[in-house]
Amino acid sequence: MTLHNDIERVLYSEKEILAGIDRVAAELTRTYQGRDFTVVSILKGSCVFASDLIRRIPIPLELAFLAASSYGEGTTSGELEINFFPSGNEIEGRNLLLVDDILDTGRTLHGIKGELMKRGAREVRSCVFLDKPARRTVPLTADFRCFEVENLFVVGYGLDYAGRYRNLPYVGALKSEIFAPSHRAGASG
Ligand code: IMP
Ligand code: MG
Repeated sequence: MTLHNDIERVLYSEKEILAGIDRVAAELTRTYQGRDFTVVSILKGSCVFASDLIRRIPIPLELAFLAASSYGEGTTSGELEINFFPSGNEIEGRNLLLVDDILDTGRTLHGIKGELMKRGAREVRSCVFLDKPARRTVPLTADFRCFEVENLFVVGYGLDYAGRYRNLPYVGALKSEIFAPSHRAGASG
């Protein structure tokens, strides 16, 4: 048995993902040409996306990390907790590009953006791998996004369910039997 057995259908293949990232990387390269900026990868979910994305941006940039979790039940996002911040000099006066796996309700990016502005960032923009606009509860639009997804819980390419499936190279929908009560767990990130 492998993780592949738990997938109902593949939404984005590896090849489609990289084509989408190429497109966004070109937009980012045009936008930040001649300007200093720092990519802030939001852990854990964005680590796979961020590492593919930055390798397609051929202009100077710096990399920083921030860890956030929303402790919710199973597939719903709950209270935002920021567990780890970049250092003060990585934030103050900097142009930051927040990179996240998925923009869902919007609470994570909205909360992080507010916190970084409060800590003295010069500018905070956002770039998400997936955008699920149907579920938005906070008025927030990503400045850059690779794909819009339907209102469906997805895993793979960094996205988890109960901490697993982040290592799948594609984005897929889980089989319904996986969402049984015995599979439920807390943190996502
Ligand atoms: P938001 O705060 O509701 O926008 O949620 C953002 C976080 O919720 C993401 O960084 C993910 O960790 C998690 N999330 C939301 N939708 C999904 C999904 O479909 N699959 C896996 N994680 C998700
Ligand atoms: Mg997450």
